[in-house]
Amino acid sequence: MERGAEPWRPPVAAPDLARALRSCLGRFATGVCVITFDAQDGPRGLTLNSFTSVSVDPPLVLISIARTARSHDVLVDRSFCVNVLGAEQQSLAQCFAGGPPQSIAWVQRPDLAPRLPGVLAHLACRPYRAYDGGDHTLFLGEVVDFDYRSGDALGYHAGGYTHIGEPALGVEHLL
Ligand SMILES: Cc1cc2nc3c(=O)[nH]c(=O)nc-3n(C[C@H](O)[C@H](O)[C@H](O)COP(=O)(O)O)c2cc1C
Repeated sequence: MERGAEPWRPPVAAPDLARALRSCLGRFATGVCVITFDAQDGPRGLTLNSFTSVSVDPPLVLISIARTARSHDVLVDRSFCVNVLGAEQQSLAQCFAGGPPQSIAWVQRPDLAPRLPGVLAHLACRPYRAYDGGDHTLFLGEVVDFDYRSGDALGYHAGGYTHIGEPALGVEHLL
């Protein structure tokens, strides 16, 4: 948004604004995923909640990765898997967000990115496009394999983890 030649700036000191903006955006409740991929030193992952479905035909999903993340450059032109965490998998979310390490029984399959066992859903993707997203990069992946199970989801809301209960009666048959 521009007013004349000078770019418009909100009337709040930048660090305060960034904090307030993060708190505001955090009111949008999401699920929690771990993005997994093969790196030079073996399988790696990163916890993420900026995941969204984009298209069914072709089947596309989007993830947004901070340019400062160590995974950022590794993910360029690389296959990845979106692992949607179940309510009981909060320790996995913490592990892949720089928390206490865990021993992971990686599921390895030829030609697909490694994935985590026992997650609520997984979507194996091959790289499709990448777009500039300011201090993040938006990676679109084309889904080449997926599966899911029933169960409650791990959620993230207002800066903390929460549980998202599975509806008693799904509406998938209506979609
Ligand atoms: C709930 C949650 C959601 C997150 N969402 C994102 C995200 O959408 N994009 C991102 O780049 N980092 C996100 N992070 C931060 C990364 O998981 C964290 O910076 C991680 O340590 C980066 O690992 P790396 O530097 O090894 O790549 C999230 C962290 C948590 C706990």
